[in-house]
Amino acid sequence: MYTPSPERYTDTVGYNFCGKSGLKLPRLSLGLWHNFGDVDNIEEAERMLNYAFDKGITHFDLANNYGQPFGSAERNFGKMLNKNFAAYRDEMIISTKAGHIMWPGPYGDGGSRKYLFASLEQSLKRLQLDYVDIFYSHRYDENTPIEETMGALSDMVKQGKALYVGISKYPEDKAREAYRILKENGTPCLIFQGRYSLLSREIETEVLPAASENGVGFIGFSSLAQGMLSDKYLNGIPENSRAALSHGFLKKEQITEELVIRLKKLNAIAIERGQTLAQMALAWCFHQQQVTSLIIGTSSIAQLQDNIDALKNLHFTNEELWQIGEI
Ligand SMILES: NC(=O)c1ccc[n+]([C@@H]2O[C@H](COP(=O)([O-])OP(=O)(O)OC[C@H]3O[C@@H](n4cnc5c(N)ncnc54)[C@H](OP(=O)(O)O)[C@@H]3O)[C@@H](O)[C@H]2O)c1
Repeated sequence: MYTPSPERYTDTVGYNFCGKSGLKLPRLSLGLWHNFGDVDNIEEAERMLNYAFDKGITHFDLANNYGQPFGSAERNFGKMLNKNFAAYRDEMIISTKAGHIMWPGPYGDGGSRKYLFASLEQSLKRLQLDYVDIFYSHRYDENTPIEETMGALSDMVKQGKALYVGISKYPEDKAREAYRILKENGTPCLIFQGRYSLLSREIETEVLPAASENGVGFIGFSSLAQGMLSDKYLNGIPENSRAALSHGFLKKEQITEELVIRLKKLNAIAIERGQTLAQMALAWCFHQQQVTSLIIGTSSIAQLQDNIDALKNLHFTNEELWQIGEI
């Protein structure tokens, strides 16, 4: 029987207010895209979840299609919640999403009211919950009027099925429209979820300023570029790494020679700073003040602890920022 550590809020990950809302999120959140599905090591997944909570990680990010097969991450998380965290629901922020393909036919993909409501109901059943804390539109759907998608999100809040809503991967102009409509509906957008890492800086120029101007928080994902921004691929592709697995989303072809040269240069800077490359990659994202939290994925407790330790040194000299930018 798991009992959370009484020290879980003492000197652990720390919290930031999410945009202009009253909700605090841990600086590191745990994502369940990989490592929590039926194809994964579920005993290790459960240990990671318990470990994360013990370290003050209160936010767990899911989506309808996480895990192989789709839905299995929500189902496994729901079982773990029921078993270990039933008494701690009010200490947790659980998010889920819909937007990418989930089931066949015309109603299992996109941004229609029909899909989003059906998907949320299915997610709640898998998670064994009455409500989620954050529900996201997982992507912008150009074939659905944005008023329809945002109207569905607002009604989820009004019906108590989601406490807050967010959007993910929307282009900046559509994000601004979404913020306006959600505000008009009386259910302001809490958060924008976007890819952000040393290798993917697109959000810096438009998405972050738009979120900030609208009081919306920002949570980054794949800040380790699915593990590429760690030391694991510096000398080949290790067995059991995400790039080696047939069901992972990272493909061997993405580990190019040119990339490894850059990673080695970044690794040298990380060593100078007394950090692992993964730690430096996470710490670096916080040089943008608007970053509320980063969603990390991990396949072991050792990785989770390595990443938490990134928070011990978030300071970068201008020289370091310049060198990293050049690479
Ligand atoms: N909104 C969206 O569209 C969207 C898209 C993608 C992700 N997300 C969210 O973001 C979360 C994180 O995404 P991600 O899994 O791509 O994140 P990531 O943190 O970039 O990559 C996670 C992987 O990196 C490796 N890793 C982690 N820590 C490490 C360390 N300290 N040293 C060495 N390797 C380490 C592990 O790979 P190995 O398995 O090889 O050990 C781990 O599975 C997802 O779970 C999901 O919640 C959202």
